[in-house]
Amino acid sequence: MQAPLYRRSPAEFPIANTLPSPILVIGPERDIIYANPAAEQFFDTGAAILLKQNLSDLLLFDSPLFQLVEQARERNASAAERDVDLSTPRHGERIADVTVTPLGEPEGTLVIAFAERGLAQRMDRQLLARGAVRSMHGMAAVLAHEIKNPLAGIRGAAQLLEEQLPSADRAMTQLICDEADRIRGLIDRMEAFGDTRSFQRHPVNIHEVLSRVRRIAESGFAGGATFVETFDPSLPPVAGDRDQLIQVFLNLVRNAVDALPESGGEVTLTTSYRPGVRFGVGTSGERISLPLEVTVRDNGSGVPSDLLPCIFDPFVTTKRRGSGLGLALVAKIVGDHGGVIECDSIPRRTIFRALLPIAAREEDL
Ligand SMILES: Nc1ncnc2c1ncn2[C@@H]1O[C@H](COP(=O)(O)OP(=O)(O)OP(=O)(O)O)[C@@H](O)[C@H]1O
Ligand SMILES: [Mg+2]
Repeated sequence: MQAPLYRRSPAEFPIANTLPSPILVIGPERDIIYANPAAEQFFDTGAAILLKQNLSDLLLFDSPLFQLVEQARERNASAAERDVDLSTPRHGERIADVTVTPLGEPEGTLVIAFAERGLAQRMDRQLLARGAVRSMHGMAAVLAHEIKNPLAGIRGAAQLLEEQLPSADRAMTQLICDEADRIRGLIDRMEAFGDTRSFQRHPVNIHEVLSRVRRIAESGFAGGATFVETFDPSLPPVAGDRDQLIQVFLNLVRNAVDALPESGGEVTLTTSYRPGVRFGVGTSGERISLPLEVTVRDNGSGVPSDLLPCIFDPFVTTKRRGSGLGLALVAKIVGDHGGVIECDSIPRRTIFRALLPIAAREEDL
């Protein structure tokens, strides 16, 4: 007779123990019979406890992972899916690629391998976005100079013309003025990229920033959207510039609202403290700590998957009147703050996650 599965010791899976990706082995009743050290970390639970648990203790009851498990079992072959939502209230927002493979022996057992979007991958995207933003600096300055002056002339001439036109024709001159204003607005926004001055950092209460953004949204563009706030009240202040941070979260909330369905739209703002998050970035390669996590989540249409890799690039837009500069500016400002921004998106769950440095000591500011 076989030994009870839950008594299997990690020594029986020596290779899995060394792998950096989280791996679980589950039995016929989805009871967890093995978890490698990466899985302990991933689920923030020690192996001793994990081995007493069932897969359903780790996931929400409607998690797509259950379907994947059933699929692998029925076909007796591997089943894989990208971007599986593994979020729970306890573990927060998480999306990972998952592969479920029947083990064959002992019967009914399955291996579940998780590949969470690596921080390195997120950083790459972010650093690429910074490069693209930098290349805009020169262009913005030239455009501003070459376009703004003649544009003011065109607008002025249209206004003069307007006075001499019968009122039926004034719609045309109005159109010229409106479009001139729109182009001017676009160039003003592009000029923000050329602004390389260093700014004064102060301790900023991010909750105050988010409440402000929410108020602006609710009194303007938010329509019927519902806002949900999940704040960690003990969060220390961010080292940064309040106005610029308002701009960041206003752009993110605006995009979230734009993507929402007609009814039932929800925008969730969350803050949390993650002291363990460190990155090997910075010019000297030093590791920096970005423990403040602020997320803007919406249950809207989701970012088209082909757009996702370049979403922080300038001029990427799917909107008729969008400039595609909103997220590029977000990436620039977050980068100027020494932080990181990334996006995970599937339909009905799009998350923008900003990791920011803490305003710890006076001398850091
Ligand atoms: N929360 C979201 N849900 C779905 N798609 C999004 C979301 N946020 C951004 N996007 C997509 O990313 C594109 C780029 O966003 P970005 O804010 O840079 O520009 P924009 O909103 O199109 O124009 P604007 O310059 O006016 O902000 C959007 O056009 C949209 O397709
Ligand atoms: Mg936008």
